[in-house]
Amino acid sequence: MNSFSSTNDPSKSNSEDISGIDLLNAVDKRRNFAIISHPDAGKTTLTEKLLLYGGAIQQAGAVKARGEQRKVTSDWMELEKQRGISITSTVLQFAYKGITINLLDTPGHQDFSEDTYRTLAAADNAVMLEDAAKGLEPQTRKLFEVCRLRKIPIFTFINKMDRPGQEPLSLLDEIEAELGLSTWAVNWPIGSGDLFRGLIDRSTRDVLIYTKTERGKQSIEQRYKFDAPEVKELVEDDLLQKALEEINLLDEVSAQRDIGLIHAGELTPVFFGSAMTNFGVKPFLDTFLELAQGPVARNSASGPIDPTTDSFSGFVFKLQANMDPRHRDRIAFVRVCSGRFKKDMTVRHARTGKNIRLSRPQKIFAKDRAVVEDAYPGDVIGLNNPGMFSIGDTLYTGQHIEYEGIPCFSPEIFSWLRNPNPSSFKNFRKGVNELREEGAVQILYDNDQSKRDPILAAVGQLQLEVVQHRLENEYGVETILEPLGYQVARWVDGGWPVLEEIGRIFNCKTVQDSWHRPVLLFKNEWNLNQLTEDHPNLILSTVAPVV
Ligand code: G4P
Repeated sequence: MNSFSSTNDPSKSNSEDISGIDLLNAVDKRRNFAIISHPDAGKTTLTEKLLLYGGAIQQAGAVKARGEQRKVTSDWMELEKQRGISITSTVLQFAYKGITINLLDTPGHQDFSEDTYRTLAAADNAVMLEDAAKGLEPQTRKLFEVCRLRKIPIFTFINKMDRPGQEPLSLLDEIEAELGLSTWAVNWPIGSGDLFRGLIDRSTRDVLIYTKTERGKQSIEQRYKFDAPEVKELVEDDLLQKALEEINLLDEVSAQRDIGLIHAGELTPVFFGSAMTNFGVKPFLDTFLELAQGPVARNSASGPIDPTTDSFSGFVFKLQANMDPRHRDRIAFVRVCSGRFKKDMTVRHARTGKNIRLSRPQKIFAKDRAVVEDAYPGDVIGLNNPGMFSIGDTLYTGQHIEYEGIPCFSPEIFSWLRNPNPSSFKNFRKGVNELREEGAVQILYDNDQSKRDPILAAVGQLQLEVVQHRLENEYGVETILEPLGYQVARWVDGGWPVLEEIGRIFNCKTVQDSWHRPVLLFKNEWNLNQLTEDHPNLILSTVAPVV
């Protein structure tokens, strides 16, 4: 449990015993990333394979068991058990070639919620995983937009090459045309599906030959020089010629390696492979570690804070309740941004000005937790949170720091939350407010004062179910959800005065958020486009201004 301390002044303590070299070295040797993908692209499979290289787990399958097994491994929440799904994103840490890697796992499809977006606020790099047959899919596009907002470097892994897929050149075209992101293929596939023969490394022209093992779920990866006799023996001439022609074309017309553009999130290195058969994963990991950016300086109210700054700082990017139902505990996930975090250290909570002694910080690995002794920029720690933290809160030692908050992302699902039992009104209001503060869901209100029931606004259906479940279990209030038929929300630059000038807007409902700022709700993108065409000067935002 965290305990408060008024005697221990965090502005004086903690930073003195930090050796600058240790910190520099730790920052230099850390990389962190999140995987963005659409369900079924192979995120779990790729994660398992990456962890095997890091020796973090003994056996693939331990990350997120599927089906029945999954129900057993993640049993912390009743709702999770009922649905057999994983609601939380966990942070997986492993070491590879002397680098400590933090993989921020984002929840999958049914679980899609604001947490998925917020996790990207803590990531320094993103891996965009595509299914070679499907190309870009909706959830990947949405997550990509959040990465773009933060200018996170994106590394693309095109998966399932062992199955028939789209032409690799069209997959690159799609990324360029639809995401406006330049591509630089690091390696290039020779054939696909049954004719998949391997990869050509573009810088060395070495060939990585793919040999399927008998049972089809593994492969052997052998590297040869391009002109080695084995290549001629193992690869059909026409397949090799086609791959070579495509590479020559890319050499002429496509972008080249440019680390500045990669780190600015404008150029994506592209890799091909097959996660299931563990082919192309190691070359991906090796090059990723070479090109990925280390922990970056974060913007605060007083300017960017360098990770190598002596004093500790970090921010809360995710809160999770009831990980252990017996204790009704809450965990606040903190991304370490600067300095060294040490167990038992006293930090200041920027929003309340309180000092907090962090005596039981945890590292959370899948279901297991271990107490952390220390942590460095790029790492994530879990803190017990008996209600004191909100999303975006800054913790620090030394000089006052307040990091930029995490914005609310445009919700897509809206529902009245009705309380049919007037006697539980107090609990209802308390529960709704607390869950909003915690960031479980966004709350909107109708402009009509007579309709004071809250409107729950979420990016994933699961968020609504979690809120209902928690209101019942933690606040003793049974509620009814009544869906509203809207799908698009926008905040208005300039607020109410701008709307007054425009006057009545058709096919649009105006509501307000918890800070009384106007939010426009539309049934579809078409109605939204109509409004922006009629009022070209109107500036609408998909992201709520941070308060
Ligand atoms: P997700 O977390 O992104 O939702 O995807 P996941 O890894 O669970 O993979 C979805 C399905 O795609 C799984 O098949 C998985 O085996 C398969 N898959 C992943 N990578 C590859 C690949 O490189 N090649 C091929 N051919 N398949 C791949 P499943 O049938 O749903 O599960 P399972 O019975 O194979 O475990």
